Amino acid sequence: MNPAQYRDLNTSTRVLLGPGPSMVAPRVLRALAQPPVGYLDPEILALMDEVKELLRYAFQTQNDLTFPVSGTGTAGMETAIANFVEPGDGVLTAISGFFSDRLADMAGRYGAQVTRLDRPWGEIFTPEEIDAALSKGKFKLVTLVHGETSTGTLQTRVAEIAEVVHNHGALLILDTVASLGGVPIEIDAWDVDICYSGSQKCLSAPPGLAPFTANPRAMDVFAQRKTKVVNWYLDISGLSQYWGDAHKYHHTGPINMFYALREALRMLAEEGIENRWARHRSMAENLWQGLEALGLPPRVPLEYRLASLTTPQLPEGIDEAAIRRTLLNEYNIEIAGGFGPLAGKIWRIGLMGHSCRRENVTLLLAALGELL
Ligand SMILES: Cc1ncc(COP(=O)(O)O)c(C=O)c1O
Repeated sequence: MNPAQYRDLNTSTRVLLGPGPSMVAPRVLRALAQPPVGYLDPEILALMDEVKELLRYAFQTQNDLTFPVSGTGTAGMETAIANFVEPGDGVLTAISGFFSDRLADMAGRYGAQVTRLDRPWGEIFTPEEIDAALSKGKFKLVTLVHGETSTGTLQTRVAEIAEVVHNHGALLILDTVASLGGVPIEIDAWDVDICYSGSQKCLSAPPGLAPFTANPRAMDVFAQRKTKVVNWYLDISGLSQYWGDAHKYHHTGPINMFYALREALRMLAEEGIENRWARHRSMAENLWQGLEALGLPPRVPLEYRLASLTTPQLPEGIDEAAIRRTLLNEYNIEIAGGFGPLAGKIWRIGLMGHSCRRENVTLLLAALGELL
C-alpha cells in the first residue's frame, strides 16, 4: 500500500445543470464543515427543532410530524411506503415516469395489492381518471409524483386529486423530490397527507437527507396499523421520538448534514418562498426561450412543464452524448440525457436552487450555441 498514490482531494467546481444534485452555496458548504457535536448535544437538539420549523415553511404546513429522514429522496419514498402500507392494502399508483414506477415496485415489496394507472411517460393525470380508477376497488393509498425528473412534467391539480382521494377514504402520498423549494407546493392548502422530498435538488444542500411530512389524517391511519412496520430504520414511531421533544436516541443523525440543510433552508426563508418560486419560473422561461431559438423546443406543453427541470426535444441524428461530454469536459457544465423510452430523444436540464441563476442560463445557452 502506497498512500502517496492517493492524491489530495480536489474536485471540480462544476456548473451543475442536471436533474440533481444542484450546486451548493458557499455558506451551506461552510455550515457543513463545522465540527460535529454529539447527537444529543443541546446545540444539535436546538438546531433540529429549527430544521423542523424551517421545513414546515418549505412544505407550507403546520404538520407536527415534519422532519428530514436520514438518507436520500428514496429513503423519503420508502418512509412513506413502509409506514403506511400493510400486507394486502390496496395502493393505486399513477405512473407516467421512472419515479412513479419505483413507488409501485416499492409498495409491492411491502405486500400491497398494487393497481397501476399507467400513462405514457411525460403525461399527467386528471382528478377524473383517478376518481374512476378508485371507484373500481378498495384503496388505502394513492401515490403521485409532483415533479417527474425523468420527463420534466409537473403534476397539476394536486388539490383536486387530494379531494377525490379523500372522497374514497384513501390517503395521498406526493413525491416532491424534484419540486420542493422550486415550484409552488402547499401541503396544507392542498390537503396532501404524506409528502417527501430530497435535500439535493431545489433545496440545494448536498444529497443525504429526505424531508418528510405527514398530516393528522395520515397519523390516525398509522395509529390503526395491525402489524409492526417491517423497516426498523424508517419506522416513524421511532424517528418521531428522536425528532420530537423527547429526543430519544434512534440512530446517530448525520449531524453535518443537519447543519447544511438548516443553512440551505435559512437561505430559502431569507429569500421568501414566493420569491423563490418566481425566480425558478423566470429563469426557466429564459431557458425555454433560448432553447426554442436554438431549435430545441421543450418537449412538455407549457401547461404542465416543470420549471425546475426542462426536457428539450432533440433533433434527429444529433450525437447528444458527445455534446454532453464536451459540455462537461470543456465547459465544466453538467446536463443529463434522457433514459427509458426517452433515451436519445431529450436532454434533462435542471435549474434548481443555487444552480438556478441567470449566469448559468446564459452560460449554457452560449455553450450550446457554440456546439450545435
Ligand atoms: C421525482 C424523484 N423521486 C425520487 C427520487 C429519488 O431520490 P434519490 O435519488 O435522492 O434517492 C428522485 C431522484 O432523482 C426524483 O427525481
